[in-house]
Amino acid sequence: MIGKRTSKSAIALVLAGFAASSVVMAQSSGGDPLAEYREMMGDDNPAEFSVMRGEELWTTARGPNNVSLEKCDLGSGPGVTEGVYANLPRYFKDAGRVMDLETRLLHCMETLQGIARADALEQRFGDGAKQSDFEALAAFIAEDSRGLKLSVPLRHKAERKAYALGEQIFFYRAGPHDFACATCHAQSGVRIRLQDLPNLTDAADAQKAYSGWPAYRISQGEVRTMQWRMRDCLRQQRFPELGFGSEASVALITYLAHQADGATMEAPGLKR
Ligand code: HEC
Repeated sequence: MIGKRTSKSAIALVLAGFAASSVVMAQSSGGDPLAEYREMMGDDNPAEFSVMRGEELWTTARGPNNVSLEKCDLGSGPGVTEGVYANLPRYFKDAGRVMDLETRLLHCMETLQGIARADALEQRFGDGAKQSDFEALAAFIAEDSRGLKLSVPLRHKAERKAYALGEQIFFYRAGPHDFACATCHAQSGVRIRLQDLPNLTDAADAQKAYSGWPAYRISQGEVRTMQWRMRDCLRQQRFPELGFGSEASVALITYLAHQADGATMEAPGLKR
């Protein structure tokens, strides 16, 4: 591990460059956008529209097989959406691997609805012009776990393996800046301008961060999911693009979820 001082100045340096080019940063110059937003909108969260769209997607027959996702088993039996998000990621016997919510949704689109993987993934993230079905479905399913305690106890050995791999990736330094997730997320009280960087090795911080995902991002006008968050942080790390539903993505999310175990779920949340 690098020393505290070195890593903090390394973060400051890179983020100075990062800030100059980032839209998110540019928008924060007038103050705290999250606070400003709340002042105008109160507790209204536009994610509610995604929740509604997600529910419709869940119950509408689609794909070559013309069936809905209501036979999709997210861990508590076919069609059950209540409480499932608070127990993900988990091992799925029928797939023989650990899956997070979006990976499982992709699996159901492929196996139940007969949608080709490439087609399903085309709009995995919304881009302003076109919304993502994953983002809406994730918002809907997360909403059905609101107020429940996150419980990812790693009882299955594949879950423990995913956690261990996720932990390894979290601390793995590489790329042009020699960054790991830990470079930005393993110290408390670090901020980049107005953004608090959660210390994801600390239970309280991890709970606070994890419990609000998926989240409506004010700066992007879209609901974003944990798969998106992982991909975007790895992009900031200048790592190769993270594959949606890949073993590495599920491992990272399993690591974070277990770190956050016991959190009261409040997703979809509202983030800057
Ligand atoms: C260069 C610094 C940097 C690195 C490296 C980095 N992140 Fe981040 N991370 C950020 C910033 C900045 C934010 C806040 C982004 C925002 O609000 O736009 C963030 C946000 C997050 C969040 C959401 C926190 C919340 O409160 O909602 C999670 C979870 C996260 N990162 C995980 C990771 C993981 C896992 C890795 C490694 C794969 C990683 N990060 C690598 C800078 C980094």
